[in-house]
Amino acid sequence: MNLVILGAPGSGKGTQASWIAKRAKVRHISTGDLLREAVAKGTEIGKRTAGIMAAGKLVPDDLVLELLSAKLADKEERAASEGWILDGYPRTLAQAEALEAVLGRTGEKIDGVVYIEIDPEAIVNRLSNRRTCGSCKAVYHLVSKRPAVEGKCDACGGALILREDDKPDTIRRRLEVYKQETLPILALYEKRYPVHRVDGSKPIDEVKSRISGLIGI
Ligand code: AP5
Repeated sequence: MNLVILGAPGSGKGTQASWIAKRAKVRHISTGDLLREAVAKGTEIGKRTAGIMAAGKLVPDDLVLELLSAKLADKEERAASEGWILDGYPRTLAQAEALEAVLGRTGEKIDGVVYIEIDPEAIVNRLSNRRTCGSCKAVYHLVSKRPAVEGKCDACGGALILREDDKPDTIRRRLEVYKQETLPILALYEKRYPVHRVDGSKPIDEVKSRISGLIGI
């Protein structure tokens, strides 16, 4: 099964995509994670994108596509999974068309889209309280998903950090970019694929069970 998950920054895409991936035995491919990894490793792409991401702007399409194509083509990962869920890609109409071209070459297709709807006002508070594991990338929330030991990841014991772009002014800029650049993809996808809408303001487990019913996992 090949899925795309869409939603505003902080709507819960990463939280739900990681759960869907385990449950449906598909790969969770997050372009945000791929870019943050490139920044942490200091690769050429990482050096070119660190400042752009910290400012809450979109990274140029060609750089993201280079990372994504390499990940999609990874033979070992492909063999070990039953598809993928894309989180953070596409983010512009041009990226949506670039994805079609890549999938045309690999002979794959998108089976469905999960769209997480949420009031943008709720997002600033959510993202200011997010903490992410610096090692395994697990995501926590200081109110709704607290780690057992403050500041430490439940899964691997890694230190929990505040993302560089989770500061109020940057969050607002990301929401603006989302509205202008990413939201138009929804109308395009509604014409092409089954789009499953879920209310992202509900508690995490309720959102999971709604998605589970909608996509049959
Ligand atoms: P990316 O990492 O993709 O960030 P994003 O889309 O802004 O989304 P987030 O990761 O902030 O939020 P999320 O929806 O995954 O929510 P989460 O599950 O973590 O991209 C970062 C940057 O990289 C971009 O700004 C851009 O610069 C660059 N980039 C990435 N892809 C790109 C592309 N394709 N093209 C160009 N540039 C690109 O949840 C958030 C918090 O809320 C957590 O603390 C979580 O525990 C909590 N939470 C989740 N669900 C609930 C719930 N139901 N109730 C209560 N709390 C909840």
